Amino acid sequence: MSVEQHADGHTVRYSQTTLTELMIPAYANFGGKIHGGTLLSLMDKVAYVCASKHARNYCVTVSVDNVHFLAPVEVGDLVSLMASVNYVGSSSLVVGIKVIAENVQTATVKHTNTSYFTMVAKSEGATKAVVPPLILESVEDMRRFSAALRRRRLRSYTSERMDDYKTAFVVDEETRAFLANERCEIRLEG
Ligand SMILES: CC(C)(COP(=O)(O)OP(=O)(O)OC[C@H]1O[C@@H](n2cnc3c(N)ncnc32)[C@H](O)[C@@H]1OP(=O)(O)O)[C@@H](O)C(=O)NCCC(=O)NCCS
Repeated sequence: MSVEQHADGHTVRYSQTTLTELMIPAYANFGGKIHGGTLLSLMDKVAYVCASKHARNYCVTVSVDNVHFLAPVEVGDLVSLMASVNYVGSSSLVVGIKVIAENVQTATVKHTNTSYFTMVAKSEGATKAVVPPLILESVEDMRRFSAALRRRRLRSYTSERMDDYKTAFVVDEETRAFLANERCEIRLEG
């Protein structure tokens, strides 16, 4: 399918990228399943390619949301990582990545995870670069863009609340009550 390049921005299709790799024994952990870190490294690679295609600039990884490994990946599986730009800010882009693992003998396909990588575009001299706008051509594109914007606002809200919590932390009755039913034992000295 041909993907047009727009003067003012790029469509989601313009930078969509799929990376496929066979899971070899060297990628396995002591339990015989594929290391989570191997999958994260592949996700980082596909996120880099997808973001850099959209930005037409070098991109670095800033943060990763939603890494939940829903099913183990086996040695011999063919893993495909499908990446799309979901959202663009000023210098940042959110790349959504869906990971599936196929057993090539049985043709069974399982969805192992969907994660969101925030990347920042840098130009020469390592200064942040403004990325082109994203052209949303479908309801799905709009849903993903809105969801990423919501996650961005929630992250900023959570981050501010947690900073306040850290600064204001005291051991008082409220803190003790908060921990009362947790599986911890408080043994403060003095
Ligand atoms: C990412 C980096 C460029 C941010 O620099 P900064 O001067 O603090 O820039 P800002 O605070 O303006 O953030 C730049 C963008 O990143 C976003 N951002 C910053 N921190 C973020 C985080 N933790 N999660 C999500 N987005 C984040 C900002 O919202 C902003 O987006 P926008 O331009 O679309 O509005 C800088 O911290 C950096 O270079 N980090 C190292 C990245 C790297 O090398 N990664 C490779 C792995 S080691």
